Amino acid sequence: MDLDLFLHQLHFHSDQVNPGDWEIDWEDGPLPFKVYRGLPEFPLPHRVPLSSKGESGSCTTNLSALGAFLWCSYGLTQFSQTALTAGEESVETIQSLRRFAPSGGGLYPNELYIYLKVEELPDGIYHYDAAHHRLLLLREGNFDSYLNRALGNRANLSDGFGAIMITTMFWKNFFKYHNFSYRLQGLDAGALIAQILEAGRSLGYQPRVHFQFLDRAVNHLLGLDDGEESIYAVVPLSRKKELPIERGVVVKQSAEDLCAELPALKTSYVQRSENVKEYPQIIEVNQSSMMESTETFSTLKKGQRKKENRPGITLPEGEKLNTSNYEVFRNRHSPEMDFIPEKINAEKLAALLQHACGSFTCPTGLEEAGDPASRLSVCGCFYQVEGIDDGAYRYDHLSHSLVKVKAGDFRADLQAGMNMDYVHFHQIPICLHIAGDRSFYRKEFRHRGYRMLHMEAGMLMQRLLLSASALGMNGHPLLGFDVNYCDSLYNLKATDQTTLIQIPVGCYRPKSRLTGGMHM
Ligand SMILES: Cc1cc2nc3c(=O)[nH]c(=O)nc-3n(C[C@H](O)[C@H](O)[C@H](O)COP(=O)(O)O)c2cc1C
Repeated sequence: MDLDLFLHQLHFHSDQVNPGDWEIDWEDGPLPFKVYRGLPEFPLPHRVPLSSKGESGSCTTNLSALGAFLWCSYGLTQFSQTALTAGEESVETIQSLRRFAPSGGGLYPNELYIYLKVEELPDGIYHYDAAHHRLLLLREGNFDSYLNRALGNRANLSDGFGAIMITTMFWKNFFKYHNFSYRLQGLDAGALIAQILEAGRSLGYQPRVHFQFLDRAVNHLLGLDDGEESIYAVVPLSRKKELPIERGVVVKQSAEDLCAELPALKTSYVQRSENVKEYPQIIEVNQSSMMESTETFSTLKKGQRKKENRPGITLPEGEKLNTSNYEVFRNRHSPEMDFIPEKINAEKLAALLQHACGSFTCPTGLEEAGDPASRLSVCGCFYQVEGIDDGAYRYDHLSHSLVKVKAGDFRADLQAGMNMDYVHFHQIPICLHIAGDRSFYRKEFRHRGYRMLHMEAGMLMQRLLLSASALGMNGHPLLGFDVNYCDSLYNLKATDQTTLIQIPVGCYRPKSRLTGGMHM
């Protein structure tokens, strides 16, 4: 298969990568979480402490703190039931188990694994069993040296208390979206990483994000079959009082040699589907994205983005926000049809953009090219935002200003560009678009660049969503939008960029669904 063509079509002509007759077998859908059988179980306290201590708070890694960290990162946080009606009649009830991070279609294709060296648990590699809020021990032992080498010696795990590993289980969202699932997987993983960072920050944890590692070695450590599930990101963790996890010089190491050091892990798990269909393109692009040797680790070159020399409108200083906060996590949701047309002023917009784009944690190894907020662009169409003329703008986070690209009201065009009417653009004053490198970092990272860019965009997306939540608003991520229209709207070809995700943001009314918190 021509993977470059596949990734190009996936992004610019996504109708061409899915078969026209693809039918979703809802009855045979997989569980939204992985449940292992027969592993040693370590329950986490169900009473999750929710008062976040903030940056200066104490930092503990006892079971209670770890339970809160994992639950706020990727635990099941809410059960919700929506009744669909036709006229007077109720036709269907949709049930969902929600988490604090958003996920395309609510399918949550990621899984979390955690390497821990803490007092109350045996040292080792665990799976976070979200369904039962517990840890399951996959391998006991100290894996500092193994993981350091898998990360090319760019981290020193002995400086910290462990690492989170974020994987993707392909079938979990392929069963609905077919090949389009690959586009969602990177964004979903990015949103989850940003959520992990915020949850960790509230407990005083110091994480570092790695997008480059020896994939086969990490998969082998976790006992994964890479035809089903594969590693996307590794996040070493240290306590605030410890040294930040050191960055060393990349040492030559092959995945094959590292795998040979550990015996294979045999596990069994439940995922419910009887008939798991094949997804050869996803497997091929994943295989081609893997790093087999640390010699292939790379860095992004500086000056990825061509500068635009138009004058901007300087935004007012925004209110300082705290997004590492339980209330902010809890209030974040995708409003769907529940946006309401309330006016927003420039101060609110300024706070939203400033908080989300400032102090963005940079994935290790990519920082030479500046922080991700300067590699990615936030563009937006604004309608009746007080103090800002209606139009399409690009936000320059360094000067905290908006550069007008086109004047006008684009709500009808944005609505027409959707593959379904998930939201009413006429109710929404702000529609943001995150844009990034049009060739998906191909030059530096070949096919891996595609998912790296999408993970970065997903991280920024989640920062925008949490900032909106902290301001009493909400955003709804949408991938079913017209990329080519938006690229031309913001003239993104001129800066070698393309739109990666669309996020309408505004005020909302309470959801018309029954919800119950899953917290004790
Ligand atoms: C990458 C991504 C793409 C999404 N695309 C769409 C979309 O095209 N249409 C839609 O209605 N919702 C979309 N969503 C929103 C999800 O359906 C939503 O996050 C999920 O149902 C969970 O609900 P919550 O966000 O309220 O927690 C997307 C979410 C993500 C993370």
